[in-house]
Amino acid sequence: KPPLRIALAGLGTVGGGVIRLLETNAGLIARRAGRPIEIVAVCARDRNKDRGVDLSRYPWEDDMALLAEREDVDVVVELVGGADGPALALARRALAAGKGLVTANKAMIAHHGMELASAAESAGAPLKFEAAVAGGIPVIKGLREGAAANAVSRVYGILNGTCNYILSTMEKSGRDFGDVLGEAQALGYAEADPSFDIEGVDAAHKLAIISAIAFGSRVDLEAMEIDGITRIRSADIAQAAALGYVIRLIGIADRDGEGDGLFQRVQPCLVPRSHPLASVDGPTNAVVVEGNFSGRLLFQGAGAGDGPTASAVVADLIDIARGVDTPPFSVPVSALETLPAADPGHR
Ligand code: NAP
Ligand code: HSE
Repeated sequence: KPPLRIALAGLGTVGGGVIRLLETNAGLIARRAGRPIEIVAVCARDRNKDRGVDLSRYPWEDDMALLAEREDVDVVVELVGGADGPALALARRALAAGKGLVTANKAMIAHHGMELASAAESAGAPLKFEAAVAGGIPVIKGLREGAAANAVSRVYGILNGTCNYILSTMEKSGRDFGDVLGEAQALGYAEADPSFDIEGVDAAHKLAIISAIAFGSRVDLEAMEIDGITRIRSADIAQAAALGYVIRLIGIADRDGEGDGLFQRVQPCLVPRSHPLASVDGPTNAVVVEGNFSGRLLFQGAGAGDGPTASAVVADLIDIARGVDTPPFSVPVSALETLPAADPGHR
């Protein structure tokens, strides 16, 4: 079979990881995909930046938007970030041109996922975003395929690696919030604007996406209640510990037991030490899915960073190379329900 030809937009933490992974595991990826995956164009802002990878063998494209127009490109891989701006413009152009689109951009999918999924359906082009939720954990595949036969009642967990790194490091070392945040940024876990992490917005983006897949509903970010970890101090963590709890930023999406609604919320929670989520440390994420036949499923692993996120991006590319054709949100956009926001007072 001919190679799957990809264009990489964005060569930062995740883009660099994707190049390293495609180079390191080229042979096994080609065997599993049934054909090689070949990078035919790359683009970032600064051509001269040292990215720790040899870019000389990959054609450089100065104008990111043109990646979508190139005839030699089958799939555009968007690893730039931002809900709108150049990432969204590229995504729209790629799908309009009938190219596949793989992205790690949860902000864009949470805000524009319905539009992009409709565009992908109209064009008959694949749209995949496994890396947008929980880094290397195949939680979208787990929900869309592993739990496909279940009515899901609840999906919840730790969805932001930066916050979990901050909370668990403060817990162990008693260090300051700002100091540990700087470290998470240096390690490549945080968003370009880390307020998205610490204010709970990044976790809300991810929760909105998995909630739509879990419940067959349209992404509804507006309905989300969001609180982050900016007000958590070392003293709060010590107080929780004295009572037998740890503090974790938890996202939860729950079908309202008394009605048709959907309750979606991100907030810092007291988690009893005996609960599996209490031992989730560092940039690790963990997602619990409760299905009516599967019972409780726990997905856990590295939620941020170059290697794990690249692993999810390339898994999507392998699916496309194999010809796996699943609607981005499990069912066609027209079949997604609109669920009213549940009143937390009913709970
Ligand atoms: P990053 O390190 O900041 O990299 C962003 C890349 O985009 C850089 O190479 C940058 O170019 C390029 N870029 C930005 N604006 C551009 C423009 N206008 N034209 C061309 N190139 C542009 O970000 P990242 O951490 O890799 O994240 C990328 C995406 O993956 C984001 O959507 C993020 O939310 C998502 N994600 C990240 C992680 C993670 O652990 N980091 C995990 C899951 C998902 P320069 O390098 O030249 O500045
Ligand atoms: N900033 C995100 C996090 C990256 O810390 O979880 C992974 O999506």
